[in-house]
Amino acid sequence: MRRSPLLAALVVLALPLAASADEARLAAVMQEAFANAPDDFKPRLVPDETMALCNATGNAPDRVTGDRIVEMAFASIVYPEDGVLMGDWQNGERLAQSGYGMRFTDYPPARENGGNCYACHQLTPQEVSYGTLGPSLLGYGKLHDFSDEAVKMVYERIWNPHTQLPCSMMPRFGANGVLSMDQVRDLVALLMDPDSPVNR
Ligand code: HEC
Repeated sequence: MRRSPLLAALVVLALPLAASADEARLAAVMQEAFANAPDDFKPRLVPDETMALCNATGNAPDRVTGDRIVEMAFASIVYPEDGVLMGDWQNGERLAQSGYGMRFTDYPPARENGGNCYACHQLTPQEVSYGTLGPSLLGYGKLHDFSDEAVKMVYERIWNPHTQLPCSMMPRFGANGVLSMDQVRDLVALLMDPDSPVNR
Protein backbone atom coordinates (compact mmCIF):
# COMPACT_ATOMS: atom_id res chain seq x y z
CA MET A 1 0.00 0.00 0.00
CA ARG A 2 1.31 3.46 -0.88
CA ARG A 3 1.28 5.99 1.91
CA SER A 4 -0.45 9.24 1.01
CA PRO A 5 2.04 12.12 0.81
CA LEU A 6 -0.63 14.39 2.27
CA LEU A 7 -1.01 12.18 5.32
CA ALA A 8 2.77 12.08 5.76
CA ALA A 9 2.93 15.87 5.56
CA LEU A 10 0.17 16.18 8.16
CA VAL A 11 1.97 13.83 10.54
CA VAL A 12 5.20 15.82 10.19
CA LEU A 13 3.35 19.09 10.81
CA ALA A 14 1.54 17.68 13.86
CA LEU A 15 4.74 16.49 15.55
CA PRO A 16 5.95 19.88 16.82
CA LEU A 17 2.39 20.65 17.92
CA ALA A 18 2.20 17.45 19.94
CA ALA A 19 5.61 18.18 21.46
CA SER A 20 4.63 21.70 22.52
CA ALA A 21 1.34 20.46 24.06
CA ASP A 22 3.37 17.90 26.05
CA GLU A 23 5.83 20.59 27.12
CA ALA A 24 3.02 22.88 28.32
CA ARG A 25 1.55 20.00 30.30
CA LEU A 26 4.96 19.12 31.70
CA ALA A 27 5.53 22.73 32.80
CA ALA A 28 2.10 22.81 34.50
CA VAL A 29 2.70 19.49 36.30
CA MET A 30 6.13 20.64 37.51
CA GLN A 31 4.76 23.94 38.84
CA GLU A 32 1.93 22.15 40.62
CA ALA A 33 4.13 19.39 42.05
CA PHE A 34 6.57 21.94 43.49
CA ALA A 35 4.03 24.58 44.50
CA ASN A 36 5.47 24.79 48.03
CA ALA A 37 9.10 24.95 46.92
CA PRO A 38 11.25 27.67 48.48
CA ASP A 39 11.52 30.78 46.26
CA ASP A 40 15.18 30.24 45.46
CA PHE A 41 14.36 26.67 44.33
CA LYS A 42 11.69 27.79 41.86
CA PRO A 43 13.94 28.95 38.99
CA ARG A 44 15.01 25.30 38.70
CA LEU A 45 11.49 24.46 37.48
CA VAL A 46 12.03 26.50 34.30
CA PRO A 47 13.99 24.44 31.73
CA ASP A 48 17.01 26.15 30.18
CA GLU A 49 17.75 25.66 26.46
CA THR A 50 19.48 22.30 26.97
CA MET A 51 16.63 20.87 29.02
CA ALA A 52 14.00 22.33 26.68
CA LEU A 53 15.66 20.68 23.67
CA CYS A 54 15.94 17.36 25.52
CA ASN A 55 12.31 17.56 26.69
CA ALA A 56 11.07 18.40 23.19
CA THR A 57 12.89 15.43 21.67
CA GLY A 58 12.19 12.91 24.44
CA ASN A 59 15.96 12.85 25.22
CA ALA A 60 16.62 11.60 21.67
CA PRO A 61 17.89 14.70 19.85
CA ASP A 62 18.59 14.50 16.13
CA ARG A 63 22.13 15.16 14.91
CA VAL A 64 21.78 18.94 14.56
CA THR A 65 20.05 19.37 17.92
CA GLY A 66 22.57 17.06 19.58
CA ASP A 67 25.46 19.08 18.15
CA ARG A 68 23.89 22.28 19.50
CA ILE A 69 23.56 20.73 22.98
CA VAL A 70 27.21 19.57 22.92
CA GLU A 71 28.33 23.03 21.75
CA MET A 72 26.47 24.71 24.63
CA ALA A 73 27.93 22.18 27.06
CA PHE A 74 31.52 22.96 26.01
CA ALA A 75 30.78 26.70 26.17
CA SER A 76 29.73 26.24 29.83
CA ILE A 77 33.06 24.78 30.94
CA VAL A 78 35.48 26.84 32.97
CA TYR A 79 38.98 25.38 33.09
CA PRO A 80 41.35 26.20 35.97
CA GLU A 81 43.91 28.90 35.14
CA ASP A 82 46.72 26.79 36.58
CA GLY A 83 45.76 23.91 34.28
CA VAL A 84 45.64 21.46 37.22
CA LEU A 85 42.56 19.26 36.79
CA MET A 86 43.13 16.88 39.71
CA GLY A 87 42.78 17.72 43.39
CA ASP A 88 42.54 15.61 46.53
CA TRP A 89 40.84 12.20 46.13
CA GLN A 90 40.13 11.97 49.86
CA ASN A 91 37.97 15.06 49.70
CA GLY A 92 36.51 13.71 46.45
CA GLU A 93 35.42 10.54 48.22
CA ARG A 94 33.78 12.60 50.99
CA LEU A 95 31.92 14.65 48.34
CA ALA A 96 30.89 11.53 46.39
CA GLN A 97 29.30 10.23 49.60
CA SER A 98 27.46 13.46 50.36
CA GLY A 99 23.95 14.04 49.09
CA TYR A 100 23.69 17.37 50.86
CA GLY A 101 22.38 20.35 48.91
CA MET A 102 19.48 21.61 46.82
CA ARG A 103 16.81 19.55 48.60
CA PHE A 104 13.88 21.44 50.15
CA THR A 105 15.37 20.80 53.59
CA ASP A 106 18.69 22.38 52.52
CA TYR A 107 17.29 25.93 52.12
CA PRO A 108 18.94 28.12 53.16
CA PRO A 109 22.15 26.08 52.66
CA ALA A 110 24.14 25.41 55.84
CA ARG A 111 27.20 23.85 54.21
CA GLU A 112 28.70 22.98 50.83
CA ASN A 113 26.81 20.79 48.36
CA GLY A 114 27.87 17.20 47.84
CA GLY A 115 28.24 15.33 44.53
CA ASN A 116 26.02 12.38 45.47
CA CYS A 117 27.89 10.22 42.95
CA TYR A 118 27.12 7.00 44.85
CA ALA A 119 23.41 7.58 44.28
CA CYS A 120 24.06 6.49 40.67
CA HIS A 121 27.53 4.91 40.51
CA GLN A 122 29.69 2.26 42.11
CA LEU A 123 33.08 3.85 42.92
CA THR A 124 35.27 2.36 45.65
CA PRO A 125 35.06 -1.38 46.44
CA GLN A 126 34.75 -0.50 50.16
CA GLU A 127 31.33 1.11 49.64
CA VAL A 128 28.62 -1.54 49.39
CA SER A 129 25.65 0.81 48.98
CA TYR A 130 25.32 2.53 45.60
CA GLY A 131 22.85 3.17 42.80
CA THR A 132 23.05 1.64 39.35
CA LEU A 133 21.47 4.30 37.11
CA GLY A 134 24.98 5.14 35.92
CA PRO A 135 27.74 2.64 35.02
CA SER A 136 30.19 1.34 37.63
CA LEU A 137 33.26 3.59 37.87
CA LEU A 138 35.37 1.01 39.69
CA GLY A 139 38.95 1.08 38.35
CA TYR A 140 38.11 4.05 36.12
CA GLY A 141 41.58 5.61 36.05
CA LYS A 142 43.32 2.27 35.54
CA LEU A 143 40.97 1.41 32.68
CA HIS A 144 41.89 4.71 31.02
CA ASP A 145 45.66 4.29 31.57
CA PHE A 146 45.59 7.38 33.82
CA SER A 147 45.99 9.42 30.63
CA ASP A 148 45.87 13.22 30.59
CA GLU A 149 43.20 12.98 27.93
CA ALA A 150 40.97 10.90 30.24
CA VAL A 151 41.60 13.32 33.14
CA LYS A 152 40.35 16.18 30.94
CA MET A 153 37.38 14.13 29.77
CA VAL A 154 36.37 13.35 33.36
CA TYR A 155 36.68 17.03 34.35
CA GLU A 156 34.43 18.00 31.43
CA ARG A 157 32.05 15.16 32.17
CA ILE A 158 31.51 16.24 35.78
CA TRP A 159 31.30 19.91 34.82
CA ASN A 160 28.75 19.20 32.09
CA PRO A 161 28.00 15.62 30.97
CA HIS A 162 26.28 16.88 27.80
CA THR A 163 29.79 17.44 26.41
CA GLN A 164 29.97 13.68 25.90
CA LEU A 165 26.33 12.65 25.68
CA PRO A 166 23.64 15.15 24.67
CA CYS A 167 20.62 14.67 26.97
CA SER A 168 22.73 12.82 29.52
CA MET A 169 20.89 11.78 32.66
CA MET A 170 23.76 12.94 34.87
CA PRO A 171 23.52 16.38 36.59
CA ARG A 172 25.60 19.31 35.28
CA PHE A 173 27.59 19.81 38.45
CA GLY A 174 29.92 22.61 37.35
CA ALA A 175 27.70 24.32 34.79
CA ASN A 176 24.82 24.60 37.25
CA GLY A 177 26.98 25.78 40.13
CA VAL A 178 26.24 22.69 42.23
CA LEU A 179 29.94 22.08 42.79
CA SER A 180 32.87 24.50 42.78
CA MET A 181 35.93 24.13 40.57
CA ASP A 182 37.97 22.75 43.48
CA GLN A 183 35.27 20.23 44.30
CA VAL A 184 35.18 19.07 40.67
CA ARG A 185 38.97 18.67 40.76
CA ASP A 186 38.73 16.58 43.95
CA LEU A 187 36.19 14.32 42.24
CA VAL A 188 38.40 13.98 39.16
CA ALA A 189 41.15 12.81 41.54
CA LEU A 190 38.82 10.24 43.10
CA LEU A 191 38.39 8.67 39.65
CA MET A 192 41.82 9.27 38.13
CA ASP A 193 44.45 9.36 40.91
CA PRO A 194 46.41 6.08 41.02
CA ASP A 195 46.32 6.24 44.84
CA SER A 196 42.53 6.55 44.99
CA PRO A 197 40.67 3.45 46.28
CA VAL A 198 38.72 3.54 42.99
CA ASN A 199 41.91 2.32 41.30
CA ARG A 200 43.22 -0.09 43.95
C1 HEC B 1 21.41 11.01 38.71
C2 HEC B 1 22.41 10.02 38.49
C3 HEC B 1 23.86 10.40 38.41
C4 HEC B 1 24.62 11.08 39.34
C5 HEC B 1 24.17 11.69 40.65
C6 HEC B 1 25.96 11.05 38.83
N1 HEC B 1 26.01 10.42 37.63
FE1 HEC B 1 27.67 10.03 36.49
N2 HEC B 1 26.53 9.16 35.07
C7 HEC B 1 25.18 8.93 35.17
C8 HEC B 1 24.73 8.23 33.97
C9 HEC B 1 23.29 7.78 33.71
C10 HEC B 1 25.85 8.03 33.16
C11 HEC B 1 25.88 7.30 31.80
C12 HEC B 1 25.80 8.20 30.61
C13 HEC B 1 24.98 9.43 30.76
O1 HEC B 1 23.74 9.38 30.85
O2 HEC B 1 25.59 10.53 30.82
C14 HEC B 1 26.98 8.64 33.88
C15 HEC B 1 28.28 8.64 33.42
C16 HEC B 1 29.37 9.05 34.15
C17 HEC B 1 30.75 8.97 33.70
C18 HEC B 1 31.23 8.38 32.38
C19 HEC B 1 31.32 6.88 32.49
C20 HEC B 1 31.86 6.20 31.25
O3 HEC B 1 31.21 5.25 30.78
O4 HEC B 1 32.94 6.59 30.78
C21 HEC B 1 31.53 9.50 34.71
C22 HEC B 1 33.04 9.62 34.71
C23 HEC B 1 30.65 9.90 35.78
N3 HEC B 1 29.34 9.62 35.41
C24 HEC B 1 31.05 10.48 36.98
C25 HEC B 1 30.19 10.93 37.98
C26 HEC B 1 30.64 11.60 39.19
C27 HEC B 1 32.07 11.86 39.58
C28 HEC B 1 29.50 11.93 39.89
C29 HEC B 1 29.38 12.71 41.17
C30 HEC B 1 29.89 14.06 41.12
C31 HEC B 1 28.36 11.45 39.11
N4 HEC B 1 28.82 10.85 37.97
C32 HEC B 1 27.04 11.61 39.51
C33 HEC B 1 24.36 9.29 36.20
C34 HEC B 1 24.74 10.00 37.33
